[in-house]
Amino acid sequence: MKRSVIDILDLSVEELNGLMDTAEDIIAHPDDYADRCRRKKLVTLFFEPSTRTRMSFEAAMYELGGNVLSMTDAASSSASKGESVADTARVISCYADIIAMRHPKEGAALVAANNATVPVINAGDGGHCHPTQTLADLLTIRREKGGFSGLTVGLCGDLKFGRTVHSLINALSRYDGVRYVLISPEELKLPSYVKEEAIKPRGIPYEQTESLEEAMPKLDVLYMTRVQKERFFNEEDYLRLKDSYILDPAKMTLGRRDLIVMHPLPRVNEISVAVDRDPRACYFKQVLNGKYMRMSLILKLLEEAAS
Ligand code: NCD
Repeated sequence: MKRSVIDILDLSVEELNGLMDTAEDIIAHPDDYADRCRRKKLVTLFFEPSTRTRMSFEAAMYELGGNVLSMTDAASSSASKGESVADTARVISCYADIIAMRHPKEGAALVAANNATVPVINAGDGGHCHPTQTLADLLTIRREKGGFSGLTVGLCGDLKFGRTVHSLINALSRYDGVRYVLISPEELKLPSYVKEEAIKPRGIPYEQTESLEEAMPKLDVLYMTRVQKERFFNEEDYLRLKDSYILDPAKMTLGRRDLIVMHPLPRVNEISVAVDRDPRACYFKQVLNGKYMRMSLILKLLEEAAS
């Protein structure tokens, strides 16, 4: 049965765990997966700039032995002629076995999924969700920390527009014993709908602060984010807020020895390059984990579509 993944909540906790288990198996036995998607085609439809997410999907499909068709530039596609997302999804379904789509508008991936005849994976819809980044994040935390239970997770930066933050909180809140420290300027606080839907109903402990220094010693995981320039209504606000937090070696000295530092990338200024040498920096491992989790998800959705 065809099934799409638009929101991380489309996957149950059992399924998230299963996807991580498959990713671990892929890491251990890559050759066993090298032919699993032979003669299948992934179409990547990216209406918004991306390097790692699109290439991660593409590399994932190649490593499964499948093929890729990709639309990288919305300006050169029929969208520029005024074609609707619904029509694009119907048309692309004639060529693709599975679609990964990124779009600047919240809800666009859902519209595509409702009109496509093949599975659609949301590769980011505006400031809303980014479920496959969350899959990368979950595998990274599980590999580095051994699980999720009892972790204090600090999320720092643009918690308002950062879709990776929204999806990660939705996912982690379903694991027991997680708590949050939400670190942001007043203007970039976590939207209340995320708090109301994911954090409060489960009674998850959380605190909000503007101070990264104050939060540092409490954290098991620090998830840094970029201030999302493209979602601001005026440049002045962006310029004022863009360097609110810069993680540097001096701040790292305040962190625990077993802290892990994550970032969905691209980074701008929020983590200084000198932190890359710190063994607690995990953001490049996160990129690799993203590819394995996308392999795992593509396999699952294609298998389900065939049954
Ligand atoms: C993120 C995104 O697109 O939301 N990037 C990514 O997919 N790895 C984070 C960002 O752009 O800041």
